[in-house]
Amino acid sequence: MCGIVGYIGNNDSKEILLKGLEKLEYRGYDSAGIAVKNEDGVHVFKAKGRIAELRGIVDENVFAEAGIGHTRWATHGVPSKVNSHPHQSESGRFTLVHNGVIENYDLLKREYLADVHFQSETDTEVIVQLVEKFAREGLSTLEAFRKTLKLLHGSYALALLDAEDNETIYVAKNKSPLLVGVGDSFNVVASDAMAMLQVTNQFVELMDKEIVIVTKNEVTIQTLDGVAISRAPFTAELDASDIEKGTYPHYMLKEIDEQPAVLRKIIQAYQNEQGQLEIDADIIDAVKNSDRIYIIAAGTSYHAGLVGKQFIEKVAKVPVEVHISSEFGYNMPLLSEKPLFIFISQSGETADSRAVLVQVKEMGYPALTITNVPGSTLSREADHTLLLYAGPEIAVASTKAYTAQLAVLAILAEVTAKSRGLEVNFDLTHELGLVANAMEVLCDSKEMIEVMAREFLSVTRNAFFIGRGIDFYVGLEGALKLKEISYIQAEGFAGGELKHGTIALIEEGTPVIALATQESVNLSIRGNVKEVVSRGANPCIISMEGLNMDEDSFVIPEVHDLLTPLISVIPLQLLAYYAALHRDCDVDKPRNLAKSVTVE
Ligand code: G6P
Repeated sequence: MCGIVGYIGNNDSKEILLKGLEKLEYRGYDSAGIAVKNEDGVHVFKAKGRIAELRGIVDENVFAEAGIGHTRWATHGVPSKVNSHPHQSESGRFTLVHNGVIENYDLLKREYLADVHFQSETDTEVIVQLVEKFAREGLSTLEAFRKTLKLLHGSYALALLDAEDNETIYVAKNKSPLLVGVGDSFNVVASDAMAMLQVTNQFVELMDKEIVIVTKNEVTIQTLDGVAISRAPFTAELDASDIEKGTYPHYMLKEIDEQPAVLRKIIQAYQNEQGQLEIDADIIDAVKNSDRIYIIAAGTSYHAGLVGKQFIEKVAKVPVEVHISSEFGYNMPLLSEKPLFIFISQSGETADSRAVLVQVKEMGYPALTITNVPGSTLSREADHTLLLYAGPEIAVASTKAYTAQLAVLAILAEVTAKSRGLEVNFDLTHELGLVANAMEVLCDSKEMIEVMAREFLSVTRNAFFIGRGIDFYVGLEGALKLKEISYIQAEGFAGGELKHGTIALIEEGTPVIALATQESVNLSIRGNVKEVVSRGANPCIISMEGLNMDEDSFVIPEVHDLLTPLISVIPLQLLAYYAALHRDCDVDKPRNLAKSVTVE
């Protein structure tokens, strides 16, 4: 989703801003822009499309020691040059970039800005025009900015330039992520530390409703009422090489291949000195003290939650409900007496999930966040955090975070079960080790899966994924992967549901990808395959060793039957990858999607 960068120091800001925006490309965007400021004034460059287009129009000859930049993922107003950021006030004095959504922008426009001529259709322009209005009425820039912020309802991360002041970038945030990075004789602003790792790894966390005055030598944080706040910087534990593609053609392929290593890292991270799996006693107590767990998540993380429910119910014997975060607020189920909320989120920033977290904290319930990003909003605001240790995930389509989420949920289930005195009749560390080995075998089977993608998915308009039990949930994730990056209309179904509707969609040649990794339903799912084949479907059966039959297209190595999702998903990730490649799609940056969805 939208990204923000800013720089103030002694060097030319253009290249730092452009490089920073390139690091944020993975989040998804449809236009980009920068504004740089020097003695001649503010120079704005904006373009629809990729950063490469923006690079093409930036004037090489402008040297400016301060600037702000933005990648926009359209919410209010179509993707276009005019709607892209930075936006300027009527006189051109103020220039602003914004992430988030201002809910009352229309009201503010009517009430305060009736005589202002607007350039764009965005909610952002209202903010910058308000700052100018209040400055014209005699307020200093800081006061005008503060007065504006107090009027805004909604989410924002903002960076503001004043053409009459060469020394300062004004920054503020509410609900949308934003950091200030500190350096020697320079300071930077970034919605994600990755953008500015090129110049610093020291960042200051910002809290909601804070204003920050950033100069090249100082970072001053205040509350909206002007009370000074001091906060020490933290070191971003990111290695710049973690966010490079290396020799891979795409981040997605790199991240698929990283899965065995991530799994081994997770096993290590959650092992104590005696080699036993361990989780903070506080977290285990929270699980034990609850009579029901509510898992809240979106997208791929929601699919991980569905599998996690099986782990926790079957192993730890705690009832679990899994909910889509965007629905939960208005579709809240009748809660149990002692609920525990578990938020699963790769980024830790998904606005829909955060809205639920805020709601349940207000209700006084405990919350645990399972996330890949330490210090993310969902991690900070929950009572407890479990980390995924997957390393930065850059491709929009989530892969290694999904398997990491499954592994951490399995560990949570096992440690809870043991601490409740329940018998666990398998050694999870050993089983996860086998899973990591099996993952390696699958990552080495790319050529075979590429051929399958050609055979089943190169010309089709749609595809169906079927499975029963835990395989059904993996099918949902397989379908999501395929539709996200190849734009093939793909849906996952429970095998038994096919005949209640979906089978009407089967035509001659329709690909049906069936998962058969569970002994208890092996024959039933194969029965479902027969039903679709007799109506013309092109079946692709992915089974597990020991359950395989002659007609199967691909056989995954045998692992513990609860853990099959960790490996059966890999051929599905690769199928989606190759289908997208064959169709010439932009694998890492699919159209209309964002990596981290920071608006509700
Ligand atoms: C976006 C991404 C998905 C992701 C979902 C939830 O839609 O494109 O890949 O699964 O957000 O994100 P989270 O960071 O909360 O896991």
